[in-house]
Amino acid sequence: MSLRLPCLWVIGAILLVLAWLVPVASAELAAPVPVPELRAAVMKALPLLERSSAFALQERACFTCHHGAHPSLVIHDAWARGFGINTTNFEDQLTRAYRGLIEDGPRFKDGWSIAGTADGPGTALWMLDVAGWQPDAITASAAEYFLNDHKFPDHWVPPMRRPPTVGSEFTTTYLVLRGLRSHRTPELVTRVRARSAAAAKWLVAAPARDTEDSVHRLRGLQLLEADEATFQTELKELLAVQHQDGGWPQKLDTESDPYATGTVLAALHDTDAVPVKDAVFQRGLRYLLQAQAADGSWHVRKRTHDVQPFFDSSFPHGVDQFISISATSWASYALLRALPPKEKKSYLAAHPQAVPRILADARPDAGQHFTGEQLAFFREKIEPVLTTQCYECHSVQAKKLKAHLYLDTRAGLLAGGDSGPALRPHDPDHSLLMRAVLNDHQDLMPPKKKLSDAAIADLRKWIEMGAPDSRTEPLTKNSPAK
Ligand code: HEC
Ligand code: HEC
Repeated sequence: MSLRLPCLWVIGAILLVLAWLVPVASAELAAPVPVPELRAAVMKALPLLERSSAFALQERACFTCHHGAHPSLVIHDAWARGFGINTTNFEDQLTRAYRGLIEDGPRFKDGWSIAGTADGPGTALWMLDVAGWQPDAITASAAEYFLNDHKFPDHWVPPMRRPPTVGSEFTTTYLVLRGLRSHRTPELVTRVRARSAAAAKWLVAAPARDTEDSVHRLRGLQLLEADEATFQTELKELLAVQHQDGGWPQKLDTESDPYATGTVLAALHDTDAVPVKDAVFQRGLRYLLQAQAADGSWHVRKRTHDVQPFFDSSFPHGVDQFISISATSWASYALLRALPPKEKKSYLAAHPQAVPRILADARPDAGQHFTGEQLAFFREKIEPVLTTQCYECHSVQAKKLKAHLYLDTRAGLLAGGDSGPALRPHDPDHSLLMRAVLNDHQDLMPPKKKLSDAAIADLRKWIEMGAPDSRTEPLTKNSPAK
């Protein structure tokens, strides 16, 4: 007895200490991240996203996934949670996305899009849907284009590999299925049903190689209402990848990063797989909070080669800024899930007067409202090249007009010469003029001496802007040479 007593004492003491320690430890883990901390983190990221998305639109004038769609998903949901937003920029972004679909119309008929495949229009539809855009003939034309893509019967593929955003067959397939779900017209319903059924099988059978794949597989399964067991199997796999620090890696052998973590948390929330108050979600949020840079951004290193000529979009992190703005968007999107919405309506439902404005501004011929800055760029950088290097053979002043091509009016450029339009506004890669000055697939222009690299870069930038043109007076045979 007397021997056992101290033994019991020790055990009792240990139990007491444990009883005291354990609840403290788990209470700390389970306690949700305080709302003011989440709000403060979003408050720091939002101005960066808004500034850079506006800047990129001014600078390059095309619809982009990184500076257009991803920030807009955040800006919309921040608005719904009572954050002040720049509504002009937000509506400009919607206008650009919608105009992209209009511009893609003729391409859709030929079976492609300016982004190459479904990724561009699929991402644009996502952003427009979140903002509350209602299905119409333009969005239906994108849905029909998705259905007419028969490269594979059961899935859709990206135009190239630019991981993580572009390059996953799961991402492209999810974007398509999501767009088809929202924008199928009654005539398309049967075809959508058949393609979705095939895709449901592919989503389960195809091997997922990285987090981007798994995230979009999960989203796809939920969208197509896969059976619970299948969904739970995929969910378990994704949850098993969460690191000790609360984050997810892009690939199994890499460290946690904000892009992967933001997209996972976004998917866990949007598919109703894991509630925000769950410890898994909260650990993810904590990871994001500690990974945020002092300036409010999240930095992720790029994994891809350049496709577009680089420009500084005023977002931090230099060469990594294009992936970092997407990462910052997904991280902010995840944090916003933990803040209750104040506004249940979408932005466009709450601002119906914005819809006719967007419709009018999105018409490609409304594009004559170029900014003063863009017109000055034309006058200073483009017009001198055309007059001194091209008019000699491609204008009313030419002794003998070559290839029936007039470069002395915008209409002439759009109409083109023997081989069709010389210019596709916003699309330098498919503009004949660009290929001519690069000596790519045809005779070099001008024939004698290649233009300087700077002039070629300016022409490219000019076409990306939509080819602003300040020439209002038609040139005549006897106009003074400039
Ligand atoms: C379908 C989505 C998508 C669209 C639409 C898109 N981009 Fe991108 N862009 C990407 C991805 C993905 C990257 C690679 C980001 C990274 O990892 O650094 C990228 C990178 C860039 C870069 C950095 C250099 C490079 O090429 O990697 C520039 C500049 C750029 N895009 C400009 C544009 C312009 C201009 C347009 C409009 C014509 C555009 N983007 C449209 C997805 C898109
Ligand atoms: C010395 C005369 C000359 C000059 C200067 C010249 N071109 Fe040409 N260009 C031609 C000829 C000749 C053709 C037809 C070539 C052929 O079909 O092989 C042509 C064809 C083209 C075409 C293809 C038109 C079509 O529809 O087939 C484009 C685009 C073009 N030029 C752009 C330019 C641009 C831009 C400049 C100025 C930077 C320029 N050219 C300067 C002589 C010229």
